[in-house]
Amino acid sequence: MATAVIENMKIFHTVSGMRDMLRVERLAGKQIGFVPTMGNLHEGHLQLVRLATESCDVVVASIFVNPLQFGLNEDWEKYPRTFDDDVRMLEGAGCNHLLYPDENEIYPNGMADQTRVVVPTMTDILCGASRPGHFEGVTTVVSKLLNIVQPDRAIFGIKDFQQLAVIRRMVEDLCIPVDIIGAEIARDHDGLALSSRNGYLTEEERCRVKILYETLCWCREEIVNGRRDFTLLEESTIQKIEKGGFRIDYVSIRNAKSLEPAAHDDRDITVLGAMYATGARLIDNVSLNLSPDSELSATAGE
Ligand code: PAJ
Repeated sequence: MATAVIENMKIFHTVSGMRDMLRVERLAGKQIGFVPTMGNLHEGHLQLVRLATESCDVVVASIFVNPLQFGLNEDWEKYPRTFDDDVRMLEGAGCNHLLYPDENEIYPNGMADQTRVVVPTMTDILCGASRPGHFEGVTTVVSKLLNIVQPDRAIFGIKDFQQLAVIRRMVEDLCIPVDIIGAEIARDHDGLALSSRNGYLTEEERCRVKILYETLCWCREEIVNGRRDFTLLEESTIQKIEKGGFRIDYVSIRNAKSLEPAAHDDRDITVLGAMYATGARLIDNVSLNLSPDSELSATAGE
């Protein structure tokens, strides 16, 4: 087993090493929780690890900057790799085992010949429209990671709302025996959703990018107050963000489960947005539940 032990957390570089350890844990009747990541960890990731510790006996995290989910012109090469800090943070949050494989371990037959997992339709919209192939890379690697770890529960952030919906769909469609748990969005002091890519922002932009969250919240408030002209409302939301000096990818009001454009009588609605700063493309979302028995302003998954 290619293993290193740092204090209490074991680090595995190979699939077989990870499996051998988890077989022992499973035989001992332990519930296994799993948090897949690409590293450069922040409070948002650690929150997922802590959530896993609450309902599982053993928590496994993975760090793998998955080349298959990055487009040709995207930031795979410059994606921040901060392994030593990540290890320290994972340990502090209560992670027991870390899977840290290299590319050959995950794609032994090469990426071009890798069997793919494709969730249709809901991956061509929103972020999928501007990042073709991205979700296919995500579902392929996540299905592999779930097969390696075989966790009872896997925790994903609501921050990547579409990713979470796509993964839930994949797990349902392929009968993968795992509970998928969505974790709240961890935000900075001004509301900006924490993201590994926030480090690409210039200092000047960093002060202004909170406009994405603020404007999505405004849009949500309009819906709570009764507006149902969703197309016009999306347009006004986009205009507000553009006035703030940012180029928009999309703002869209969607059914929270299907990700279809929201219908006027939908109860669970999510407003999703993506915009471009100079150094980074930022995404965020806010949700609302319009059930008669819920408080109107209450948010689902926020
Ligand atoms: P990564 O961007 O590292 O994110 C790992 C997990 O942390 C994801 O589930 C993501 O939604 C969650 N996360 C990130 N920022 C968060 C925040 N501010 N609040 C709450 N959760 C947050 O997402 C990926 O990696 C990859 O696509 C992966 C699923 C690992 C597949 O390669």
